Amino acid sequence: MGKPLDAPLGTNTLSVRDNRTGKTYSIPIVDNSISATDFKALSAPRAPSEREENETEKGLRVADKGFLNTAVLRSEITFIDGDAGVLRYRGYPIEQLALHSNHLETAYLLIYGSLPTKSQFQLWHDEIMHHSVIHADAEQFFRSFRYDAHPMAILTSALSYLGSYYSEANPSLQGQNLFTKGDKTSLATMDKQIIRLIGKATTLAAMAYRVRQGREFVTPPTGLSYAGSFLYQMDHLGQENYVPNPVLEKALDVLFLLHADHEMNASSTSVLQVGSSLVDPYSAVAAGCASLYGPLHGGANEAVIRMLISIGKPENVPAFLEAVKKREKVLSGFGHRVYKTSDPRSFIVRKTADEVFKITGKDELLETAMALHDAAMKDNYFISRKLAPNVDFWSGLIYRAMGFPNDFFPVLFAVPRVVGWLAHWRQMMLQTGGVKIWRPRQIYVGAGKRDYVPLEDRVAVEEPKKTPSVVEHSGISKRTTLASFKGQTRAKL
Ligand SMILES: CC(C)(COP(=O)(O)OP(=O)(O)OC[C@H]1O[C@@H](n2cnc3c(N)ncnc32)[C@H](O)[C@@H]1OP(=O)(O)O)[C@@H](O)C(=O)NCCC(=O)NCCS
Repeated sequence: MGKPLDAPLGTNTLSVRDNRTGKTYSIPIVDNSISATDFKALSAPRAPSEREENETEKGLRVADKGFLNTAVLRSEITFIDGDAGVLRYRGYPIEQLALHSNHLETAYLLIYGSLPTKSQFQLWHDEIMHHSVIHADAEQFFRSFRYDAHPMAILTSALSYLGSYYSEANPSLQGQNLFTKGDKTSLATMDKQIIRLIGKATTLAAMAYRVRQGREFVTPPTGLSYAGSFLYQMDHLGQENYVPNPVLEKALDVLFLLHADHEMNASSTSVLQVGSSLVDPYSAVAAGCASLYGPLHGGANEAVIRMLISIGKPENVPAFLEAVKKREKVLSGFGHRVYKTSDPRSFIVRKTADEVFKITGKDELLETAMALHDAAMKDNYFISRKLAPNVDFWSGLIYRAMGFPNDFFPVLFAVPRVVGWLAHWRQMMLQTGGVKIWRPRQIYVGAGKRDYVPLEDRVAVEEPKKTPSVVEHSGISKRTTLASFKGQTRAKL
């Protein structure tokens, strides 16, 4: 820091001159990145006109709303080249894995870094399937939800609830270094939770499904694949020797594999943010699930179908696109923070869709989806903004063709993403130098110091965003408002 500007050309440094002070700084560039904390050394005296809350004399801050260009960690798990449309898990191209691997093998790869041998895979598979059973008391938990609860609300709660069974896996009870020690016992404790979470994710999701359908719960079957077991747990109604359709089982497995990880997406970041407090992995994964629920993330596949239903037929596509361009509507399933040409997963999903449609029949929304896709891909608004279909544009159509209700689509995304969340969580627990709590800074632009105003001296603030809205009492019926209480009607109360 504070080194002269004339650092030799060709060195991995960044020369920065702070024009407030005239000082120059040489900032190291490591792996094509600079450290935000290095900029903290750039301090200057605060100008008399400047707000004290800027804390100028304490060093420069790096602002990045929405993490547009901030690398939050070093990772060995997934690589994305958004311009070239490349996605690799631990170096293996997604296309090769989709063709030759399966979800559980890919899960092993993502979490432990290499493809398992035959015996390693067998053990991994058997352990996960063995750990798919959950405590019978959980049935009451699932039955406690309202009849129309969104299955993502159920799944998010269920993941957190699951953690309550494992006090031995709770750093709040067992000591904060439970998962960070890196010794044999600590690794075994960590891996047991990973196996449990992957094994039970399908069980919890299937229970969320069955409770909505008014079905009894089933015990996870033996002898089926991960995706096959999931289908069985949702669909089995007591028939003898029930075996899920192999084409649908394979399609679901490919979709699981494609959704298993996607580097620092919003939900993985949520898992790491929450996990950085060293909370138990069930709570961290539940936080990831909550993040995935949002329509800008895992909820997009559900939003695509709602959008296609609202468009109705191919003839209505031009008017819809005009509304998108006027920013009255959003084209769900298009655009991506990282992919700026194409999402490589979308091609595999499109191919998988054809396999599924061969046996389920084409979805009635497919023609509208094709028309929308083709029109958007030719339209300058989308071309100039590099907006292409993402994985969610097509996946919802497969799920629909397979007979899943719309609001279950994000669950079909969350179940496989448990793998990615845990791969990132495990990597962070074991990273060199230990875990640092994720505690970002802010740029405070609020009121400066002011003194408390006594009630009688206050002037009412009435701007809509700065006062509470008038809320309707939705639980109160007309009859209740007309009834009297202690001799008074509600209107007078
Ligand atoms: C994924 C997404 C959140 C990425 O957001 P982002 O990286 O912050 O990109 P921006 O919102 O800055 O978009 C850049 C421009 O493209 C436009 N844009 C992005 N996605 C768009 C979409 N789906 N439909 C219409 N316009 C879109 C933005 O309005 C913006 O236009 P402007 O520069 O004229 O203001 C965004 O593309 C989106 O909302 N897509 C739809 C939801 C979706 O499919 N999510 C699943 C992701 S896997």
